[in-house]
Amino acid sequence: MEYKMTLGEVYKKIPGDLKVSRFSLAKAVSYIYNEDPSRYIFNDSIDIPLPIAQKIIKHFVSGYPLAYITNRVSFCASEFYVDERVLIPRQETQDLVEYAIKLISSCGIKTVADIGTGSGVIAVTLKKLNPYLHVFASDISSQALEVAQYNACKNMVRIDFRHGMFMEPFEGEKLDMIVSNPPYVHSSYKNRDLQYEPVNALYAGEKGQDFFIGLSKYEEVKKVKYMLFETTEFFIEETCRILSQFGYIEKLADRYGIYRFVKVLRF
Ligand SMILES: C[S@@+](CC[C@H](N)C(=O)[O-])C[C@H]1O[C@@H](n2cnc3c(N)ncnc32)[C@H](O)[C@@H]1O
Repeated sequence: MEYKMTLGEVYKKIPGDLKVSRFSLAKAVSYIYNEDPSRYIFNDSIDIPLPIAQKIIKHFVSGYPLAYITNRVSFCASEFYVDERVLIPRQETQDLVEYAIKLISSCGIKTVADIGTGSGVIAVTLKKLNPYLHVFASDISSQALEVAQYNACKNMVRIDFRHGMFMEPFEGEKLDMIVSNPPYVHSSYKNRDLQYEPVNALYAGEKGQDFFIGLSKYEEVKKVKYMLFETTEFFIEETCRILSQFGYIEKLADRYGIYRFVKVLRF
């Protein structure tokens, strides 16, 4: 049993009708090994360990994310570990964090809860940039919390992690602010790039609003002065409608001008 494949063998395993170029393969492999693509172009004899070779083939055949092969992503200039237990953080969520940082510094916020922390990118970044902030981070998935805890250690910050859904982990706590990038993909949206990420992290009913509907049933939400959410650009009006019972609503755009964030300031 061979525990490795050559780059040439990997290339031959990718079906020809997918029209994957040698350059695309070289780019993917160089990204995984953090090296220059030129090392991998027309260098068929380079050995790739079998588990990685199989995942590279899966990447080209069915969209398996490269981030789950490298187990790393960069977010707000820090590095985070990711694997199949968590959503791969998206670039646009960095804009949510930027809005949160502005709000925290201009409104004297002292305690924040990141609900649905996943890999912990939001909570860890906020704590890194505001050492005196008390940061809670929760998730319904205990497996995701393991990853988030690892990322807090990796980035040397102390986060108050809690397991549970919606507001349940924060009973008796005084929260100045909630920040959250919850599941919001509408159920009819199917994309092969999403098939390897946790379903709990993505889908939220017909209009992607199940999380917001669920959260709004908790009386404790009314006590929180500031809230900042990422939501679906396709049904943002629906999110605004649901959250408008809690305060003044403002829609915010990402760096590309797409409205995907909602800020709530308590009445
Ligand atoms: C879209 S992911 C976001 C992960 C991370 N915050 C980020 O921005 O990359 C949503 C996360 O919310 C968690 N989640 C889903 N429903 C939840 C609920 N009702 N309460 C708490 N966490 C929830 C999922 O397990 C998942 O980790």
